[in-house]
Amino acid sequence: MKAEIVSGIAEGQDRQEGTLEAHYYLDPAVTEAEKRHLLHETWQFACHESDASAPGDFYSFTIQDQDYFIVRTQDGELRCFANVCPHRGHRLVEGHGNKSRITCPYHAWTFGLDGALRGARGLSRRSGDFDRFKLIPIALDNLAGLLFINPGNNAAPLREYAPGLEGQLLRACPELARYVPNREGAEFGHTYICESNWKVMLDNYLECYHCQTAHPDFNEMMAIPDSRFSLFPNFTYQEAPTKRKADNRAFPLDLDHDVLVGTFWWLFPNITLGRFPGTQNFYVSRFDPLGPGRTSRYTLSLKPARPTDAGAEERDRLRSVWTTKVVSQEDRALCENVQRGMAQRGFQHGWYVTDPEDHGISELAMRHFHGLYRAWAADHAPRPVTA
Ligand code: FES
Ligand SMILES: [Fe+2]
Repeated sequence: MKAEIVSGIAEGQDRQEGTLEAHYYLDPAVTEAEKRHLLHETWQFACHESDASAPGDFYSFTIQDQDYFIVRTQDGELRCFANVCPHRGHRLVEGHGNKSRITCPYHAWTFGLDGALRGARGLSRRSGDFDRFKLIPIALDNLAGLLFINPGNNAAPLREYAPGLEGQLLRACPELARYVPNREGAEFGHTYICESNWKVMLDNYLECYHCQTAHPDFNEMMAIPDSRFSLFPNFTYQEAPTKRKADNRAFPLDLDHDVLVGTFWWLFPNITLGRFPGTQNFYVSRFDPLGPGRTSRYTLSLKPARPTDAGAEERDRLRSVWTTKVVSQEDRALCENVQRGMAQRGFQHGWYVTDPEDHGISELAMRHFHGLYRAWAADHAPRPVTA
């Protein structure tokens, strides 16, 4: 039997045969521990660099009930702060726009774009209070124009956390840093709710064993048996070639202009990135738990600033409609069904299929996820109750 293509994985880290116990998908205490001690402590996708491109541009957003904003300073640096006033807790900015100072709408404390307090009626500069009351800084990192934050301010920089990821993204999509968000129309950048645990959704994302049975259009378009998974520290990469057919039930391909390989990444714990074959496009998704059996999937779609050929925009619109209305719905139904299965009394955990020679039917990337998750859970999550 050939060796598995596990790169950079600690010996023995991925050897368990049973999948994660159902408890980890059902227990509200596990979800709370994940929110506080896993998602808060890891890199969370926020927005694209072009959302704050000029000095003074700010962009506010919420991740797992916590409010933040990113701002570009007069020096051109990107900074992130908690979107909460240190005086009494009012939110500082709404939406996005451009400001030379941040003025709180409640009592008008005013902050520089570097987070320093610049003005507050009734406070004396000489008392030292101006130095004490700064905005709360949040760690920010930029991977090929994609902005991530680490709310816990503890994570290693992304290039250390996921060595090689940025190079892979740029090799697959050299223009990525110059792509722009595609927020036009309901089919593009979107958020949807799935009535399943966030890990059920990632488990499903991390294998294409189900593609032949559950995604008939995708299976018609893609050469699934030729797909390959590669595992790396804290991330995975999947490459899936198309069958090089112009007409497909999913969406048409232009064999002269389009990318004819699907490229998909996952970043531990809850981020996916990738590009479907077809016209140039790229997406980043963040999976936010709303409870043990409920998840919000936020997706930002990106596109080239200018279409690559005359029909590109229309082909990408069809690709996006299919992604949103067909394949995402097929996956949602699978995940909601599995979540119900997690609660069935006879079911304690599942089993991996990890054929090292046939990545098209292998769940080795999912097992990699579970290995990393188990290492975290050992110190941070409530254990299953054994009978
Ligand atoms: S809460 Fe912001 S100035 Fe009072
Ligand atoms: Fe799927």
